[in-house]
Amino acid sequence: MGKDSITITNNATGNSEEFPLLSGTHGPSVIDIRQLYQKMGLFTFDPGFKSTASCESEVTFINGEEGILLYRGYPIEELAEKSNFLEVCYLILYGELPTREEYDNFVTIITHHTMVHEGFKDFIKGFRPNAHPMAVMVGMVGAMSSFYHDSTDVNNPKHQEISAHRLVAKMPTIAAMAYKYTQGQPFVYPRNDLSYAANFLNMMYSLPAEPYEIDPLHAKALDLILILHADHEQNASTSTVRLAGSSGANPFAAASAGIGCLWGAAHGGANEAVLVMLDQIGSVDQIPKFVAKAKDKNDPFRLMGFGHRVYKNYDPRARIIRKMAIEIIEKTEGKDPLLDIAMRLEEIALNDEYFIEKKLYPNVDFYSGIIYKAIGIPTDMFTVIFAMGRMAGWMAQWQEMISDPNRVIGRPRQNYVGAAKREYIAVDGR
Ligand code: SDX
Repeated sequence: MGKDSITITNNATGNSEEFPLLSGTHGPSVIDIRQLYQKMGLFTFDPGFKSTASCESEVTFINGEEGILLYRGYPIEELAEKSNFLEVCYLILYGELPTREEYDNFVTIITHHTMVHEGFKDFIKGFRPNAHPMAVMVGMVGAMSSFYHDSTDVNNPKHQEISAHRLVAKMPTIAAMAYKYTQGQPFVYPRNDLSYAANFLNMMYSLPAEPYEIDPLHAKALDLILILHADHEQNASTSTVRLAGSSGANPFAAASAGIGCLWGAAHGGANEAVLVMLDQIGSVDQIPKFVAKAKDKNDPFRLMGFGHRVYKNYDPRARIIRKMAIEIIEKTEGKDPLLDIAMRLEEIALNDEYFIEKKLYPNVDFYSGIIYKAIGIPTDMFTVIFAMGRMAGWMAQWQEMISDPNRVIGRPRQNYVGAAKREYIAVDGR
């Protein structure tokens, strides 16, 4: 028995088989069970994939116990402090920090891909004016595959690269269109003289009737939020992009599937759900009642923005974004009472036995929702901004999957617990 292997014995049959143990750069070793069914006629069972590694990846490493997050080996704390979102996009997509020339070239490329085909102005009119912006994002990003036929050969590295550039570059433009459409306001074209975050704010908020001044702190806060959301290992939406892409679907369709998955309140929709929850709580004196509901096994209510599948320590992103939230709140005239409720809720939950014992800490969504609220982003746009940041990670993970020479279509099996085989009975005999 090699030390880099594990033996599985089926006690029902006495059959034993050895399987390799694979080790990565960081993190637990993995049991290579690709031959399990062939060798032992068995499947593994892991709903939610809590103990399953779906792939090998070089993009992001997370250690949930120690609260560690690395993008291509660089700690998120250093990138948040010293980098900017487009530099982080380059790092995540290409694996290395860019030289000055590589950075300038990348910024030029992304900047010159921010406009969308004029046809999108007609396409968006198919949505009801009160459509949720995430519904518009799912549709518009998926529709990109109907405008960019010149880059949908998934096996062509050049097509892979330009599709990633187009998706990263056009997300702010499409997101701002989704907002403007619901407001009945004219779309604002991107400006090549603005930074990525400032450009988005300008496309969101500027109006033809008067000049719009971009608040540098808001642009800085948004750039930080985009950095923190850029990738996160094999979370639900990234796994969706990988699975959709594994069939050979084009990257625009795979990204649209990822946006759909991110929308859920247990995932990227949590930031919007945090504000809905704060509104529901209504005042600081109601917090104990809602904390009790969250602890009640018979009550489906959960504290949105708390807990994480991987982080059983403080989400390192939450620690970073919390500082920015406090800075923004302090600068917000006429403080919004919801922000006071949020700060008090955090304090109570962090000292409550239930949350301590279950290791439920505030996650990135708890604080990002607070910042969005403080800088005037409408609640139904919160997850749209999450998708904007995560697009870089989705594309890096998709490229890693699609360019793997051993790529196979993802196709899990099941434990069938339905009816045993039975004969059809004519309706008069039932
Ligand atoms: C994101 O995967 C990623 O990386 C995601 C993300 C990313 O960047 O991609 O980090 C972004 O999605 C952050 C998470 C945002 N979601 C929320 O804030 C929604 C609220 N949180 C929960 O729904 C929950 O914590 C999850 C979904 C985030 C994690 O759920 P798990 O890992 O499946 O944990 P669980 O549901 O098994 O809960 C463990 C226990 C349970 O109690 P017991 O059954 O053991 O008695 O903790 C309880 C849960 O009831 N619990 C909560 C709770 N979260 C878990 N109780 C009250 N409030 C909560 N928020």
